[in-house]
Amino acid sequence: MSTNNTTTSAYTDFHLQFIAGEWQTGKDDSSNTNTNPYNGDTLVEIQQATKDQLNEAYDAASQTQEAWAKQTPATRAAVLYKVVNILDQRQEEIVDWLIKESGSTRIKAMVEFSATRAITLEAATFPNRVHGEIRPSNTPGKENFIYREPIGVVAVISPWNFPLHLTQRSIAPALALGNAVVLKPASDTPVTGGLLLAKVFEEAGLPKGLLNVVVGSGSEIGDAIVEHKAPSLVSFTGSTSVGKHIGELANGGEYIKQVALELGGNSPFVVLKDADIEQAVKAAAFGKFLHQGQICIAINRVIVEDEIYDDFVERFLAHVKTLNVGDPNKQDTAVGPIINAKQVKSLKEKIAKAQEEGAKMILSGEIQGQVVPPHIFTEVTREMDLSRNEVFGPLVGIIRAKDEDDALSIANDSMYGLSSAVFTADMQKGLRFARGIRAGMTHINDISVNDESNTPFGGEKNSGIGRFNGEWVLEEFTRTHWISMQNEPREYPF
Ligand code: TAP
Repeated sequence: MSTNNTTTSAYTDFHLQFIAGEWQTGKDDSSNTNTNPYNGDTLVEIQQATKDQLNEAYDAASQTQEAWAKQTPATRAAVLYKVVNILDQRQEEIVDWLIKESGSTRIKAMVEFSATRAITLEAATFPNRVHGEIRPSNTPGKENFIYREPIGVVAVISPWNFPLHLTQRSIAPALALGNAVVLKPASDTPVTGGLLLAKVFEEAGLPKGLLNVVVGSGSEIGDAIVEHKAPSLVSFTGSTSVGKHIGELANGGEYIKQVALELGGNSPFVVLKDADIEQAVKAAAFGKFLHQGQICIAINRVIVEDEIYDDFVERFLAHVKTLNVGDPNKQDTAVGPIINAKQVKSLKEKIAKAQEEGAKMILSGEIQGQVVPPHIFTEVTREMDLSRNEVFGPLVGIIRAKDEDDALSIANDSMYGLSSAVFTADMQKGLRFARGIRAGMTHINDISVNDESNTPFGGEKNSGIGRFNGEWVLEEFTRTHWISMQNEPREYPF
């Protein structure tokens, strides 16, 4: 992979919206001040989009989609492969934006860059991979054809935590499969969650109007994005509360539409008594503290079997104490800043609540600006707030399980079902345990934070509906059309 950045000049003009293939000023009275969560520097001031501009984006998407769908698979694939090349050429520039806009540590920014590249490469194969079926018929003389067609216009609403990847995970497959997109990135990450990708697709030669990026506040234009007649699918990644609202709007409004909802998580990380404790400790630290714990599939509950609980806690504490906290731009920083002041406030409340509820805080530290150091709590029970709710920060509770059955019961005691993990030396036991977990994803002897472009990513219960990656997203972003052909006159009963 090339990281050569010398021949390309860095993208500019991130104060503009990308609508109908033109970079234009937002016409709303309000603006978005995009700041660096580590040092508070203003990165760019963006005048927000109005509902009229949103309509313009939908018009452009609707008008251009059919012609795009008719392009040969090779033409669509070529644009995606070009995107991969541009990502490679601009890797440094993109990683720099991830660090300064989303507070990503260098390590996390590289993880995110790689995942973005991987899904783009996977999506580049979709134009040629998508296929229909021929099914037998019980009616004499009939042939059944099942076509898989583009779904049309797709609305994408993405979050701030893995903005580049979680946006690209929707828009690259959508475009590859012949759809057009209207995207609203999170207000904390309008560049890495949208405008930067628009620049890349524009440079790759994507025809005008197929990808539109509308920067505006979710509470102002969110409903209008979902309720608009144009999109046939709303692909939303974000909190469960907003996801439920979107689900209601998409199915209870004037126009019914499909939804793909990737929502909150509460991943259990289970350490059984025969596990390699040292390996489990390192995994727990990485799976919990990567991106300051602001990942939907981050470890949210560490559940350890009684016999090894004290040993695990002692080693985990010693390891976490060695993590570097602070400037995300430094190569060896493990824990950087929290995305915004509102999230820091919510974490302070969680720390206070954990103590009130009787958890023992064995590691803490001073909160400086938006940097929250790791906090570890022991003697946490399944009833406590730390166990019941998604933390989305560098705080972790360690729960004691009596035995394997108890560990499974605790792991499943959640309204979420996104990812999960179990550590054990016995693979058969691990597989049995994994199959007992009600979640979309379980990893044996690894962390809950895993995403591969060719395996199904998604959850159940309050973690959402639908799956990303591979043929699962290929199905999600196309529509199925059964067409039958009656080749000889059929006999009707009357
Ligand atoms: P949210 O507050 O839900 O925001 C996500 C997106 O929804 C943002 O673009 C936001 O815009 C927009 N939005 C807010 N209100 C809206 C409305 N009424 N209508 C339409 N859109 C609206 O989540 P977040 O704080 O960015 O992300 C954290 C949450 O996302 C966590 O719960 C996390 O678990 C979840 N998440 C899930 C996954 C997967 S794959 N399951 C991945 C990442 C994150 P504004 O920014 O303008 O408010």
